[in-house]
Amino acid sequence: MQQTYIMIKPDGVQRGLIGEVILRIEKRGLKITAMKMCTLSKEFAEAHYAEHKSKDFFGSLIDFITSGPSVSMIVEGKNAVTVMRGINGATNPQEAAIGTIRGDFGLETGRNIVHASDSIESAKREIAIHFNESDHSDYMRIDEQWLYE
Ligand code: RTP
Ligand code: MG
Repeated sequence: MQQTYIMIKPDGVQRGLIGEVILRIEKRGLKITAMKMCTLSKEFAEAHYAEHKSKDFFGSLIDFITSGPSVSMIVEGKNAVTVMRGINGATNPQEAAIGTIRGDFGLETGRNIVHASDSIESAKREIAIHFNESDHSDYMRIDEQWLYE
């Protein structure tokens, strides 16, 4: 099983989309194994988006992501990294397919509601930034025997 790091960004929280995002994750069969709400510090935000440090949008991205509460999750399941990228949709919501979170609820790249790790390596790095080992809940969901062959 793979783990990935998901964040409902401050716009998703403010627009009342926490439940919508969680619903889509759970209905797909993916399992939430850690979850918390917090307002990210600049230090954590810069560590999280370190790959974009040289980009011209970095400053506004950090200001936005630290501007209010966000919801962090560890999501687990078969091929969870790729499956979650699909659930979220393309970075620019205007190019995101209908049926994805960004395609259904967004209009601007800088307000695209959700984050998902882009690789297994990124997932490991991001989970270590946002969660302690003791935050993880290791459990079986009752539907797993019907979800997986
Ligand atoms: P994320 O990391 O947030 O899940 O988004 P992503 O992988 O789809 O896109 P990424 O390239 O990692 O960009 C991170 C976030 O930076 C903002 N962005 N702005 N103005 C721009 O050209 C631009 N490009 C990216 C977006 O909020 C994007 O989600
Ligand atoms: Mg990214």
